[in-house]
Amino acid sequence: MKKILLVLALIYTISGNFVHGQHDIKVDIDHPKATIQPYMWGIFFEDINFSADGGIYAELVKNRSFEFYEPMMGWQETSKKDGNGKIFILKQEQNKPENPTYIRIDSRNDDGMFGVVNEGFRGMGVRAGNRYNFLVIARKVGNNNPEISVELLSTDGQVIGQTSISGFREDWQKMEGSFTSSQTDAKAKLRVMVNGTGIVEMDMISLFPEDTWNKRKNGLRADLVQMLYDLHPGFLRFPGGCIVEGHDLSLRYQWKKTVGPVEDREVIVNRWNTEFMHRHTPDYYQSFGLGFYEYFLLAEDLGAEPLPILNCGMACQYNTGELVPMDELDPYIQDALDLIEFANGDTTTKWGKLRAEMGHPEPFNMKFIGIGNEQWGEQYVERYQKFAEVISNKHPGIMLVGGSGPRPEDDRFHYLWKEMKDEKVDLIDEHYYMNPEWFFENADRYDDYDRNGPKVFAGEYAAHGPDNEDPASKNSWLSALSEAAFMTGLVRNADVVNMASYAPLMAHIEAWQWRPDLIWFDNLTVMGTPNYYVQKLYSNHTGSEVLNITMDGKPLTGQDKLYASASVDKKAGKVYVKLVNASEEAQEVNVDLSGKAKIRKKATAYLMTADNPLAYNTLKNPKNVAPVKTEIKLRGQSISETLTQLVKNATQKTKKCA
Ligand code: AHR
Repeated sequence: MKKILLVLALIYTISGNFVHGQHDIKVDIDHPKATIQPYMWGIFFEDINFSADGGIYAELVKNRSFEFYEPMMGWQETSKKDGNGKIFILKQEQNKPENPTYIRIDSRNDDGMFGVVNEGFRGMGVRAGNRYNFLVIARKVGNNNPEISVELLSTDGQVIGQTSISGFREDWQKMEGSFTSSQTDAKAKLRVMVNGTGIVEMDMISLFPEDTWNKRKNGLRADLVQMLYDLHPGFLRFPGGCIVEGHDLSLRYQWKKTVGPVEDREVIVNRWNTEFMHRHTPDYYQSFGLGFYEYFLLAEDLGAEPLPILNCGMACQYNTGELVPMDELDPYIQDALDLIEFANGDTTTKWGKLRAEMGHPEPFNMKFIGIGNEQWGEQYVERYQKFAEVISNKHPGIMLVGGSGPRPEDDRFHYLWKEMKDEKVDLIDEHYYMNPEWFFENADRYDDYDRNGPKVFAGEYAAHGPDNEDPASKNSWLSALSEAAFMTGLVRNADVVNMASYAPLMAHIEAWQWRPDLIWFDNLTVMGTPNYYVQKLYSNHTGSEVLNITMDGKPLTGQDKLYASASVDKKAGKVYVKLVNASEEAQEVNVDLSGKAKIRKKATAYLMTADNPLAYNTLKNPKNVAPVKTEIKLRGQSISETLTQLVKNATQKTKKCA
């Protein structure tokens, strides 16, 4: 048998490091005990905290289609060279009910320029030397031939990119232009003006960087997708979260309204606009430029299984809790069937054809669907049953995810677990937003779960600890350490826990509603939190089978504040060991890897620690808490002596940095 490469992740408090000593930890390399699903560690995407519009969807213009409740939100009238005129808001409800509002710029001075300026999403992030693509759907009114001037403005109002567009017709047309930015600026603006006298009507005024993820036209922000890609996520859960449910049913997520041409996707208010009055975000809407097709594409790019969650006929029970009567549920179920056709169907079918027209004739091979998000009560069970009956009959291969409510251990949870088990649901979605102590204490949560029941999808979790006014402070080292400890329990129970995802995924540092979040960004930069690096340590080193790792013959679930998991990837010839020390004391450990399989002398180690439990990363200091990779030489099959040296060196280094 070829020699195995050991990959070791040591995650510990700085004082509670590891030293050679009396705790005997044994990894049983020869007897793998359960399969780990290749899609075990995934990501949860919801348009919260400006994650989609203003975030990963690279559109720089806010309210491009004038559909916000205040149509001029994000826009301001402007002029140059003594220009003057009038702005009108028009509405074509009959011709274009899904996107009726547009703007008329009526410029009335032959020598001047008159129009509007857009502020972007807390500004527009642009880079010197990068190209930007402008697009507008426009027509002229009257006999003259107006020209528009399109200018990128720096924070201090200088023109840093410019193009002009002419040749408007009297019918609506897509008009395009592009320019290079001469400066880097996180708070640029876009100015669009009619030159001289003339009337131009415009809708969908849009500006995208050319340099998007995979260079897709009008696509996603490359740096943000790269962060997701680096996680190698096994699945992508979308589009949420509570956003699926809606504050009321009229504002629920309807996937069919998010596919096809972007100008035909109806804009609605984002539920996180008003959800928290202390974080009120009046300019938060959903353009659905990132719609279901784009989500499927993103999943494919990331090599992740797509896992859409659908509304089950219930609005958010924290809000209106509106219910669709049982005899009116069919359209909701039909949406699920049509989604399967959209994702997997032949191109001769209605929805498969649309997928092909949008650019993806090959199926997306969707295998999972979630029915409802964080619902509870018998109303949920009866609706779930109807969905499950129809979907399972028509598509027995699709795995269904049912919910267990918003909390990990209350009456709603226990009731739903029992009901979902009776329904033989494939996976149960559990949510836990708890304090770090809970995560430490629950490292053995799944040890006694029924091995014959449904599988667990830990669909939303995050440790919520103390914070300060700095947005990312809630993503403390302590929270990440507790998640690392808890996740050892997920690996150990991978026969029950098949999928897991931290939540929420992303937040704009100037426009967030909810924290902690895995990734923080502004208009130009992005950083991973300590929690991100913990997720990455796990998702980049998953393994295909669980190995027993024990102390005194028992799994490490917090004895002396030690936690551990081990797995093997037989194909790659790698063993992954994760060791977490949450104690303030150094732990005296011998780690014995003996077995028939031989270990290579050179191993890879990742060490993650910080000198303060409340340490966190910022956009200016993004790797304050992050793993350090190193190579170690093993002596024999035990890593203890080496481990002491390794931790000593790393601790000294971390102290120097701090
Ligand atoms: O992740 C934020 C929110 O938390 C999700 O939208 C919801 O499902 C949960 O309550």
